[in-house]
Amino acid sequence: MRKIIERIEEEVKQAFVENGFDEKYGMVTVSNRPDLCQFQCNGALAAAKQYKTAPMNIAQPIVEQLKGNKKFKEITAIMPGFINITLSGEFLADYLNEMNQSDHFGCEKEANPKTIIIDYGGPNIAKPLHVGHMRSAIIGESIKRILRFMGNKVIGDAHLGDWGTQMGLVIAGLKQRKPDLVYFDESYEGEYPQEAPFTIAELEEIYPAASEYSKSNPEFREEAKHITYLLQNGHRGYTALWNHILNVSVTDLKKVYEKLGVTFDLWKKESDAQPYIPDMVQYFKDNNYARISEGALVVDVKEETDTKEIPPCMILKSDGATLYNTTDLATIVERMKLFSPDRIIYITDKRQELYFETVFRCARKTKLVSEDTVLNFIGFGTMNGKDGKPFKTREGGVMRLEHLIKSVTDEVYGKIIENRNMDQEEAKDVAEKVGIAALKYGDLSNQVSKDYIFDVERFTSFEGNTGPYILYTIVRIKSILTKYQELGKKLPDKSVILPAASTNEQNLMLSLAKFNEVIYTAYEETAPNRICQYIYELSDAFNSFYHETKIIAEEDDIRQASWITLITLVQSILMICIDLIGIEAPERM
Ligand code: ARG
Repeated sequence: MRKIIERIEEEVKQAFVENGFDEKYGMVTVSNRPDLCQFQCNGALAAAKQYKTAPMNIAQPIVEQLKGNKKFKEITAIMPGFINITLSGEFLADYLNEMNQSDHFGCEKEANPKTIIIDYGGPNIAKPLHVGHMRSAIIGESIKRILRFMGNKVIGDAHLGDWGTQMGLVIAGLKQRKPDLVYFDESYEGEYPQEAPFTIAELEEIYPAASEYSKSNPEFREEAKHITYLLQNGHRGYTALWNHILNVSVTDLKKVYEKLGVTFDLWKKESDAQPYIPDMVQYFKDNNYARISEGALVVDVKEETDTKEIPPCMILKSDGATLYNTTDLATIVERMKLFSPDRIIYITDKRQELYFETVFRCARKTKLVSEDTVLNFIGFGTMNGKDGKPFKTREGGVMRLEHLIKSVTDEVYGKIIENRNMDQEEAKDVAEKVGIAALKYGDLSNQVSKDYIFDVERFTSFEGNTGPYILYTIVRIKSILTKYQELGKKLPDKSVILPAASTNEQNLMLSLAKFNEVIYTAYEETAPNRICQYIYELSDAFNSFYHETKIIAEEDDIRQASWITLITLVQSILMICIDLIGIEAPERM
């Protein structure tokens, strides 16, 4: 289904042509003066230059011609040559009825669906999840859903960090605590136990302690490094331990992600890419892509047009060790081999931008990807505290994600218990859903690349541009629909929306009609904030309409059926949109 703005534009363009002007001047935009009109065309001003006449001389005859058009209620030429447009109630109602009966409410799927891998989340094994991982997970989940909604084949990969020095540190830390474990007995040749020799709570304690200890103990640091080296070269005992660490961590990670409403299709790990490294290195050498620089193997990725210094991409350190780069390049090799994606999207903190630029250039130059494989980096900003600095715990440490989630759900729980008539059990349930929505919406309503301030009170408010406000709107619609059915009335069919009876209703309808356009924009820009902005606008329009309209008390059955259909449509659109940003609505709140 074509966008409503295109349908309007088509009429205006035709009028330009019929009056002897170029079609391009008939471009229509949403009005920036909604108090005066809904849409506008400023083309006469630009056309005036080409046709060497006053803009009004162009706008006037066009407006005259369009006055009889059934799509418009009002079309006027305003000095110095703007064309102001307000749609007719019939046209808008027809558009909504058509939308209501179309697949996906008039939102057309991608004509050429693509295979897209999204690399998001990126948690590191044995380290607790922190806020940065949360942003990646929330944003990635939403982008995945948007791309999928548009008909693409999308594969979400958690890309676990399981190969770095943190593994050596954890194992060294464990050795310090429990030196008698069989994993540390070099002469042991039997099977290792199935059961992990630690709990998740212990594991989470070991890493920070070991990391701290290594700072002041060079010997320990060296040992951890050596363990990492041995692990990466297949040491039996360490490999068995590493498997335990992996299993215990992943079980825990899955719990947190589940709370957040985040799922992955793949739980691939950095280590999965390791087998691809030797051949990749050989290939780089054989094709003269790489050179030796101070003992290290590097690929130059500088380009003449660079305005900033782009360092070479290091493939092997002088001691032969591999790096984060190497793993990412080998992961590209693996992904191309397993999935032949048309596009790979990476979502991390924007501080990794230069890093990814280097990796992408290297992958292109060395032809690890085909010419038309799209590699995208989406960098997000920092979540700050109210002081404008990166968010910290009260003690100044890194806030663990679970605690952060809990602080938000607790806040919502308090509000519900205080203001609503709900038993504790239900309140707890509702608070979980609403709390997650508050957190996710508070994040996603910002442009991804921007920093934002984490403000529990604002995020959990039931008023304003917040998750709870959107959910409350949905719950309100549900309750009207329930009341309607309790009157013994059946929900009407889909084509009975009448022209608006009030300005607020007209605004609500206009807002609904923008649905497909918003989705296309969010899709093109991979921008969940576009959806948030829209559902806020739509919820607001609904609430203004709701406050002045007595839907249930309406005596005219036809009018009432029209309203019921209209608000059912609002509900459907809101439900699709919240699903795209990864939040769920409770039954009541
Ligand atoms: N584990 C990394 C981190 O914590 C993020 C991984 C991002 N993805 C990637 N392919 N490099 O920073």
